Amino acid sequence: MRTKLVAGNWKMNNTVAQAAAAVETFVQHVDAKANVDVVICPPYLAIPKVRELLRNTHIKVGAQNVFWNEQGAFTGFVSPKMLDEFCVSHVIVGHSETRGRFGKLETPESTLGYFAETDETVNLKIRALLFRAMSPILCVGETLAERQAGETERVIQSQLEGAMKGLDASELFTFVVAYEPVWAIGTGVTCDTAEAERVCKFIRTRIGAMYDDELARQVRILYGGSVKSTNARELFSQPNIDGGLVGGASLDPQEFSLIVMSA
Ligand code: PGA
Repeated sequence: MRTKLVAGNWKMNNTVAQAAAAVETFVQHVDAKANVDVVICPPYLAIPKVRELLRNTHIKVGAQNVFWNEQGAFTGFVSPKMLDEFCVSHVIVGHSETRGRFGKLETPESTLGYFAETDETVNLKIRALLFRAMSPILCVGETLAERQAGETERVIQSQLEGAMKGLDASELFTFVVAYEPVWAIGTGVTCDTAEAERVCKFIRTRIGAMYDDELARQVRILYGGSVKSTNARELFSQPNIDGGLVGGASLDPQEFSLIVMSA
């Protein structure tokens, strides 16, 4: 039986003071005994404070991105080693915002540099995280144009294969995949529950085909894209949806606690 996981992706929101206030409110509202894994992914600067406030709780601290080298001349980036110092447990990789989508598809790859994650750089990040025993949350998902062209499965399969290339099943038991249809992120348009379940099941089946049934059974697959307290319960009760990656709604501590309780 997989334990549900709800991760809040704060994106570029909350100063350290705002983060502290949000976490304090959230801890008061969430049931400490609930059998749900909870991760909050604040901006890097707020990680130390959030970690300090959550130290005696079951809630974990995650990060929104990472570079793959441990140190070096990579201006502006943060390494797995630096995150490890603050006991970061989960790191989001391959988010559609860091893959360089959202209106950036026409920008030439050469000018996007490291910000435009590719399947290859996502793979390097996953390797670097696993080396430090942190859990990657790999985001996959199709754009609206890809969905309309009937390419949902092809896109997701190629994202999975690219990100997981050369990885061994034995390394992947803490691995998390988040199905995040790009058209549902931050739009208020949630993917239909049956369709979200269908795609999450497809992801599980692909992992079974790439590795084995045991890994497919263990890997947690989340849904992300306009998750709210009003749709979370239905989404999370699907057999192949093991929780959610929540953006906007995770910024409101009471709303986020309701979402966690739905799991
Ligand atoms: P949203 O974002 O919940 O605001 O749609 C989800 C995400 O980007 O992870």
